[in-house]
Amino acid sequence: MTAPHDAADAPDATDAELGTVRDLVAASGRIAVLTGAGMSAESGIPTFRDARAGLWARHDPMRLASPEGFAADPGLVWRWYAERRAGVRAAEPNAGHRALAAFQRAHPGRLTVITQNVDDLHQRAGSEGAIRLHGDVLADRWFDACRRHARGGNVCDPAWAAPGEPPACAECGNRVRPGVVWFGEPLPLAAFEAAERAARGCALMLVVGTSGAVQPAAGLAGVARHAGARVVIVNPHDSELDGVAHHRLRGTAAALLPRLFGAPGAGTLA
Ligand code: OAD
Repeated sequence: MTAPHDAADAPDATDAELGTVRDLVAASGRIAVLTGAGMSAESGIPTFRDARAGLWARHDPMRLASPEGFAADPGLVWRWYAERRAGVRAAEPNAGHRALAAFQRAHPGRLTVITQNVDDLHQRAGSEGAIRLHGDVLADRWFDACRRHARGGNVCDPAWAAPGEPPACAECGNRVRPGVVWFGEPLPLAAFEAAERAARGCALMLVVGTSGAVQPAAGLAGVARHAGARVVIVNPHDSELDGVAHHRLRGTAAALLPRLFGAPGAGTLA
């Protein structure tokens, strides 16, 4: 992976490049948009792999984002996610999220959002049916399988947990964890299958704001290309998926997506 720079360093896509991809958007029946942390960067949510500001540049992912890390220090992990939850709640969808949602409203059934992001900004922008590959940071779930359920009862609701860092079941001590996928854990099967179907069935895949460093999500770009789709990357920097793409648009999600998905004649394309 190449070293990231500041978004401001990178040259923007030319009008001709934007026009080509805008024509592809217009001509493609089904479109899939695979998003990563860069999608929410202009909403103020940090990415993971930016060399200076990225979360994994400042924190050890195995301590904070793995089952082993949580088992070793659940309080540390719970407090770190509490800060991330506060950041997500304070953030607002940006012009890129809004452009995708507006296109979906104007063209029902044509565009599927597949996101690696655990924030809810696609949902709050109004994107219907966004597929969440890595879970939901605002959701709670049990760390261990519920023991009452194992004895044939209903699963206890994590909302009943006694307060704490983390909250815990008053009956058995099971701890609450955030509803995200951690390193070493499988993706939610139904979500991944839906994402594979969207990748195989689209005529155009846009890959927005992801380094392409994490599998199996990154592999969806290759699935789409192999099935015959055109693949376009929107990113101010190089990514590990550049070799899979037919076109690379240099620029940010909030700057470029309104120009690609905005209504024709709305003055969005020079
Ligand atoms: P990364 O942090 O790896 O990559 C973010 C990408 O966004 C980089 O390629 C940046 O160049 C690009 N970028 C930065 N600002 C941008 C902007 N304004 N517009 C468009 N692109 C921009 O984040 P992900 O690829 O999403 O896993 O990381 C994948 C997974 O790794 C995450 O889902 C997370 C992490 O560990 C889980 O949470 C399970």
